[in-house]
Formats: sequence, structure tokens, C-alpha cells
Amino acid sequence: MTAAMSRTQVGIVGAGPAGLLLGRLLTLQGIDCVIVENRGRSYVEARQRAGVIEHRIADLLRSAGVGARLDRLGLVHNGIYLQFDGSRHHLDFKDLTGRTVTVYAQTEIVKDLLATELPVSFDVTDTRVDPSGSVLSYVDADGRPHEVTCDIIAGCDGFHGISRAAVPGRTEWQRDFPYAWLGILADVPPSTDELIYANHPHGFALHSLRSPTVSRLYLQVPPDEPLSAWPHERIWDELATRFALPGWTLRRGPITDVSITPMRVFVTTPMRHGRLFLAGDSAHIVPPTGAKGLNLALADAALLAEGITEFIRHSRPDLLDAYSDSRQEHVWRAVHFAVWMTEMLHTAPDPFAAELQRSQLRYVASSRAMATSLAENYTGY
Ligand code: APR
Ligand code: PHB
Repeated sequence: MTAAMSRTQVGIVGAGPAGLLLGRLLTLQGIDCVIVENRGRSYVEARQRAGVIEHRIADLLRSAGVGARLDRLGLVHNGIYLQFDGSRHHLDFKDLTGRTVTVYAQTEIVKDLLATELPVSFDVTDTRVDPSGSVLSYVDADGRPHEVTCDIIAGCDGFHGISRAAVPGRTEWQRDFPYAWLGILADVPPSTDELIYANHPHGFALHSLRSPTVSRLYLQVPPDEPLSAWPHERIWDELATRFALPGWTLRRGPITDVSITPMRVFVTTPMRHGRLFLAGDSAHIVPPTGAKGLNLALADAALLAEGITEFIRHSRPDLLDAYSDSRQEHVWRAVHFAVWMTEMLHTAPDPFAAELQRSQLRYVASSRAMATSLAENYTGY
């Protein structure tokens, strides 16, 4: 079949948070775009991912006109709890930095953005990008091939996408941690008012939440752990052990989703080749301890939208030219913070590292300077 030929100003690969927010911000500026996504809409809307929004990112979503449900359903948290050596310590971000975070699931942000009726083609196959000719090609859900000539192409297609490979001569960094997170979603009211990050001799555990009736919890497990090793009762028993405190009980309820996520850092640079730009997980992955991945992806999309708007509207390339360097600076701050949190809270590799880790935890829990540093990074630096 001959390909349908068309033109657009911006071709976007991937309908995750980065691609959708970029599409939304460009649409608000009257810039034409097409978004192609290789999964179906229901899959994209149901995918369970992160859930903590930095203070400035919440404002960004409001300014994109998708803040109404966030403001109604999002839960504003003033801080987190750090638990180690059998005690739980509260870090009050509001007091330390004047800022808060909002607990609101990535999947809800995706739904809010899709509700703005963006031009998304779902279930496409064989997506390709040719940055030299700025051509985005794909086969649509009915099997029809398309070739779209674009002024700019945005690769927002996540870690497993195809866009990154179209940036020649890139430098990549990767570090895999020797553990994974087993995550559950459960129909049970959270047993805590704010997130608990717990360091325990059995491994790390995190108590997060999604709403007053839905809890989200995670356990550190070995990297190659089969899900079959974790019947629901074992998951609850292990969570109860790692969060145990006298006088506190973990509420249990039906588990509705279980998944295992590897823990890794991945960064590629530059995030640009010619008129192709990378945003979000296609360019960087941070371990989830510190909840930076979603915030980085949305911040990439915001700066890219601004740069594209300047370029298309006013023929000014300066912001686009600065995009990769500017985002790399933020990405590496987030990588450092996420690695620091990860290594402070997960099983230490040897007894010496374990002593350093306990000293670090005691220091964060008792020093206002250290707590402020954590709070500043967590709420958005
Ligand atoms: N063609 C079209 N779409 C693709 C292709 C392809 N070849 N490959 C991947 N995609 C789609 C994926 O199906 C997905 O919907 O690109 C989208 C990328 O979305 P995300 O993986 O959610 O990445 P991003 O938008 O950058 O958001 C990052 O997701 O993994 C979390 O912690 C991370 O919260 C952060 C967020
Ligand atoms: C989540 O709610 O999914 C979550 C919260 C905090 C993290 C990671 C994940 O650090």
C-alpha cells in the first residue's frame, strides 16, 4: 500500500506524560502536532506508574489547563516519614522549604491530558524517525502506512522506544542496582497520612497511597524475582515486618495490581540531533526512590514546548539550542538525589557500607541542614 503523505509542525512519538503534555502545550499555542502511540488507549490510561508531583509541576499542569481534577483529588503532603532502627521520623518539607508535594497518580495525569482531545493515533506499528528529513513514519491501526513531514520531531517514547537510536554519537550512562521493587495497589485505606520510606534489615519498603481508599506499597526484592514467589499473604506479611512499630498496624486489603520494576539509572546525551529532540524516559531513567521520573519527564516537555514555540512562531532557535544542556543539568541533579536516596535506604552491599548508611540516616533525621537538602530536592530543586 502506498503511504499517505502529510505535513505537520511537530511529530510526537509516544503518548506517555511527556508526549501528551508537549502535545497539549503546543496545541494551546496553536501549533499543529500529531502524536503516535504503539499501545491502545485503554492500556495507556490504566498503566500504573509513579504518583508524587513537585510543587512547580503541579503549577505547570494547572497552567496547561489540566489542574482541575488534580486540585480536587490530589492529596497535598507537607512531608514524608523516614523509618530506620525501629523509629519513624517525620521530615516537614513545608517547615524546611515552604513547599509541599501533591500525591496524584501519573495515570490520572494521562487521563486528564487525553480528555483535552489531543490528536493521538493509538495502536500504531513500525514507527520510524528520520531526523535528517524530519520524517515520522508509521503504520496506523487499520494497517495504512503514513509518512509525516515535520518541522520538529519529539521522541517521547520512553526507555524502550525507537527515537533515541536516531541520535548518532550519543554518550550513555547506565547503572543497574542489584534489586527491584515489587509494587502493589490495594483497595484499603492507607495506614499513614504521609509516605513512609523504611530501611529494614530485610530490605527497603515504601508506603505510598493513591486516595483515601487506595494504598500503593513497594518492597525491595531481588532483581530477578518471579512474581510467583510472592503470594498476596506473603507480600502483606513482609510489608508488616518492614514497617513494624509498637502501637502501629498496617491495614491489609485486596490487592488489585502487582508488578516488579528494575532499579536503574540511565542517561543519554545529547537529547537532540538536528530537529529531533528527546524528552522523558527516552532520554533518562532514575530509580524511583525520590519520585523524580515523572517530574523530570513533564519538565522536559514544558521546556521543549517553550523552545519549539519560540522557534516556530518567532524563528528564534536559542531556547531549542539550549534545551539539551539545560535539561541535562536538572537530570543529573535528579540522578544524584535518587541514587543517594536509593543507597541510603536499600540493603547495603557490605557491613562497612551499612554503618555509613545508618550514620547518614541518623544525620538526616537529626540535622536541619541535611533534612532541608532532602526536602529541597524532593519538592523540586
Ligand atoms: N512508537 C510509538 N509509541 C511508542 C513507541 C513506538 N515505537 N515505543 C514506545 N512508545 C510509547 C509507549 O507505549 C508509552 O506510552 O511511548 C510512551 C512513553 O511513555 P512513558 O514510558 O510513560 O514515558 P514518559 O512519557 O517519558 O514518562 C515518564 O513514566 O516510567 C515512568 O517514572 C517514569 O514517571 C515517569 C514517566
Ligand atoms: C508512588 O506513589 O508510586 C511513589 C511514591 C514515591 C516514590 C516512588 C513511587 O518515591
